[in-house]
Amino acid sequence: MEPFAALVLAAGKSTRMKSQTSKLLHSVAGMPIIQRVARLVGDLGAEKVALVVSHQKEAIFSAFSEHFPGAFMVDQGDPRGTGHAVQKGMEVLVDFPGDVLILAGDVPLLRLDTLRRFVDLHRNSAALLSVMTMEPAEPHGYGRMVRHEQTGRVERIVEQRDLPEHLLGIEECNGGIYLVKGTWLQTQISRLGTDNSQRELYLTDLVEMVPKNEVITTLLVPEEELLGVNTRGHLAQAEAVAQKRLSERHMAGGVTFTSPGTVSLHEMVTIGKDTIIHNGVSLRGTTSVGEACVIDQGSVLTDAVVADHVIIKPYTVVERSTVESRGEIGPFSHLRPHTLVMSGARVGNFVECKKTTLREGVKANHLSYLGDADVGAGSNIGAGTITCNYDGKNKFQTIIEEGVFIGSDSQLIAPVRVGAGAYVGTGTTVFSDVPPGALAVNPKKQHMVGNFIPPKERNK
Ligand code: UD1
Ligand code: MG
Repeated sequence: MEPFAALVLAAGKSTRMKSQTSKLLHSVAGMPIIQRVARLVGDLGAEKVALVVSHQKEAIFSAFSEHFPGAFMVDQGDPRGTGHAVQKGMEVLVDFPGDVLILAGDVPLLRLDTLRRFVDLHRNSAALLSVMTMEPAEPHGYGRMVRHEQTGRVERIVEQRDLPEHLLGIEECNGGIYLVKGTWLQTQISRLGTDNSQRELYLTDLVEMVPKNEVITTLLVPEEELLGVNTRGHLAQAEAVAQKRLSERHMAGGVTFTSPGTVSLHEMVTIGKDTIIHNGVSLRGTTSVGEACVIDQGSVLTDAVVADHVIIKPYTVVERSTVESRGEIGPFSHLRPHTLVMSGARVGNFVECKKTTLREGVKANHLSYLGDADVGAGSNIGAGTITCNYDGKNKFQTIIEEGVFIGSDSQLIAPVRVGAGAYVGTGTTVFSDVPPGALAVNPKKQHMVGNFIPPKERNK
């Protein structure tokens, strides 16, 4: 493909979003809107990219750069319209000989394939200017494409606020994405005026400057792809479309969703085939799930790594942790960051783990807290076991070697080590290291009181 440059317009004030944060930093399917645009221009192969910013410029530029490093940042200062933004942007693209793709930063759903078709159309028809258009169900607010009655050639774009009554019936609207021959754009962009109701420089006025002997083309695109996020309502609409696309993509890859409309997926999530995702599941960040797993109802996984044949039972929360093959977690388990559940290990209900490794085949099935611990292969952690890892100031390690049995309701006061094959009796507070193969118990005496009369039976 011939080289082209991209100009991303991202200097708007986001007034209608009613937010402290620029609309371009709000996320759709877990990815900030501006990053989705950055990824798009990168995937399309833009050679040079200028990002026109003003409000929250540093934050927007750094989010953009994460997905497209090497862009030029241009500060628009006081934004005076889309034409003004392009004037500023062209200052860094002065000598660029190829086409310039201009796109708004607030369009998160545009597809790469569509952009490719747009570029092909522009080139195959040797156009000077190409415009993406749409026929939205509700055209109010968009610029309208005014065409010549006989030839159908686009003559101008009229903004909603400047629209005379006789043009109200036009259904075709400007989608705000353009391809322009760079050298021509360079000579024309300074000629834009502010003769409109907003006293702004309108980029759309370029259309009228295209000489009659030059080609101007349009590509009609589904409305959904050109949805510009200006309000929270648009943001929710964009999220719904993104979720639908994501679940469809994963289904095409062999994943079952028992109720796709209720699942929330982030863009970077991967899921292996024959995995079943039940209702209300949320897979966030860079979570990857292997093949033939079950992620049951209401579970929330963030930046998790889940291998093949893993079962995650309902209402489990996993953050930045790994579950190896045939592991079983939940229901109601909480794996906090840096937990590693190795092959065949099992974490049951109301068990919380943090910075803990449960080696092959470990069982921690009920009501426990395991923090800063390393539990050896095949060990059994009884119900109600607690690693006391914190003295109010520092955190300490608990090492449980392989084949250990920790009886129910025991506390392990870290730092402490329980040797291989050792046995900790029920209700023991382990104060000091237990040698391999030993039994640790805190002797307690059971007292019997004969003929005991419970309070409610007394004084009768
Ligand atoms: C613009 C088009 C309209 C089109 C619509 C499609 C103009 C005059 N109108 O209107 O025909 O139907 O998009 O969504 O172009 N921006 C800047 N600097 C500025 C102003 C805007 O960088 O000074 C950026 C915004 O951040 C946004 C993009 O340009 O990403 C579009 O601006 P916006 O104000 O949303 O234009 P619309 O009124 O939607
Ligand atoms: Mg807009």
